[in-house]
Amino acid sequence: MTTIDPPANPPDLRGYVEELAAARERVLEGPSASASRQQAERGKLTARARLDLLFDPGSFREIEGFRRHRAVGFGLEERRPWTDGVITGWGTVFGRTVFAYAHDFRVFGGSLGEAHAQKIHKVMDLAKSAGAPLVSLSDGAGARIQEGVTALAGYGGIFRRNVRASGVIPQISVILGPCAGGATYSPALTDFVFMVRGIAQMYITGPEVVHSVTGEDISHERLGGADVHGEVSGAAGFVYDTEEDCLADVRHLLSMLPSNNRELAPVAATGDSPIRRCASLVDLVPGDPSRAYDMRAVIEEIVDDGEMFEVHASWAQNILCGFARLDGHLVGIVANQPAWLAGVLDIHASEKAARFVSTCDAFSIPLVTLVDVPGFLPGRDQEHGGIIRHGAKLLYAYCDATVPRVQLIVRKAYGGAYIVMDSQSIGADLSFAWPSNEIAVMGAEGAANVVFRREIAEAADPEAARAHWIKEYRSQLVHPLYAAERGLVEDVIDPADTRTVLIESLGMLRAKQAPLPDRKHGNPPS
Ligand code: HXC
Repeated sequence: MTTIDPPANPPDLRGYVEELAAARERVLEGPSASASRQQAERGKLTARARLDLLFDPGSFREIEGFRRHRAVGFGLEERRPWTDGVITGWGTVFGRTVFAYAHDFRVFGGSLGEAHAQKIHKVMDLAKSAGAPLVSLSDGAGARIQEGVTALAGYGGIFRRNVRASGVIPQISVILGPCAGGATYSPALTDFVFMVRGIAQMYITGPEVVHSVTGEDISHERLGGADVHGEVSGAAGFVYDTEEDCLADVRHLLSMLPSNNRELAPVAATGDSPIRRCASLVDLVPGDPSRAYDMRAVIEEIVDDGEMFEVHASWAQNILCGFARLDGHLVGIVANQPAWLAGVLDIHASEKAARFVSTCDAFSIPLVTLVDVPGFLPGRDQEHGGIIRHGAKLLYAYCDATVPRVQLIVRKAYGGAYIVMDSQSIGADLSFAWPSNEIAVMGAEGAANVVFRREIAEAADPEAARAHWIKEYRSQLVHPLYAAERGLVEDVIDPADTRTVLIESLGMLRAKQAPLPDRKHGNPPS
């Protein structure tokens, strides 16, 4: 127990200040040198070193560093470390206020007890009322076993606050150690999840439980490591080799996002001309619609300085989602990726894009959608896996989005996938197409086989008949001006003008207002 004997009638405050400095020093030192050494041996930075990397130098203002638990039992009375295993406060990132909490694994394994949870609750409440982003640096063993149900209640308070802050302030979870059981649901409720290979693992039940229930032997890393969540489950949007790279990108993402839902994203200076022609686009995209190309290269040609910050770069790679700038203004880009599964939409792609569209909409980030999609992926796995529900998520997210929305049809845009990829009919403010566009219910080959099946079968030369009907269908229904003649695209443009057209369109839409219906909330498919 700390006891403080105040000096009797001191002449000034110097004694108090010196005592305070000594007490603060003990807080900053952490529990022990050996605990810090063990943290290093686990290949991890300390919570304070992480906060130093996250914030502008010297800007972090810790609160409740002197907080300690008041729990009893299991020897806890004898062990009441400062901070109670979590460091909370705020600072600046590129000069803008950001709140953070960082679990300190050196203290009770970063586990969450009552006082620990209350500190997190306080910083979450402050972030929401101040309208500033919240970053959690996770490195903890979950609920503090010795504190029982109060620890569980503490998690409940975090989850409720995550949800209440959702769409109000950006919430970023950075997983830098274990994150097990119910604790994983806080990251899952936030906007962006970052992980570092080798040190971060997330799972509902760990390898020991998996072994006892299923008999399967699996390592922590293979069960819930960064690559698993970055490539397979989609639970992590960003994966890194080092904590330094990871936290540098957290800073980068924060520099792009608005601080809250009432502000617009910061505008960055760029030397990239808004009227720069994108001459190479006609070579980047093959004229033959069955040939693949890398949509990333197309985006890089169009956006400011060729820079896009991709979300979920290694998961559901048949769709690209990321942030970029056009004439300095932040946009969210959603694009089919013909280089991966021909750019088809499937369950994971729909989920990935739906979440991204909702995130952009929540934070007033305009959407640019580049379309080159052959349709939805057919097959039993997809149907039984719920492609109807999951595909509907993307449809719902676009239909619900009130931010400026511009669709650009690069090449193929077939069937339901055309509609879902932010077509004018579901609310895109403007739709443009390149002269290579093919917008139709299906490709000419498939269409001829269905509609003219009898004519083809009965023809003297079926193959010649098939070729005739394919040509006929294409020239009547799939020609580049077909949708423009019907007002379903606003214009067919020279690819070289794409950047300028997008910048002009988004400039015109900057003050867009789209009031929402008066209702409690919609009921999106899940
Ligand atoms: C209290 C804990 C703890 C816990 C670990 N420690 N887990 N203290 N509560 N949950 C302590 C250890 O006693 C040890 O203390 C220190 O933290 C470091 O732990 P180690 O085991 O030595 O570290 P390591 O080998 O790196 O393993 C880390 C670990 C492992 C993988 C996290 O400790 C582990 O599996 N712990 C149990 C995790 C767990 O089951 N948590 C509950 C999840 S369920 P000393 O004093 O020796 O330094 C949950 C419910 C949330 O969280 C529900 C929300 C709705």
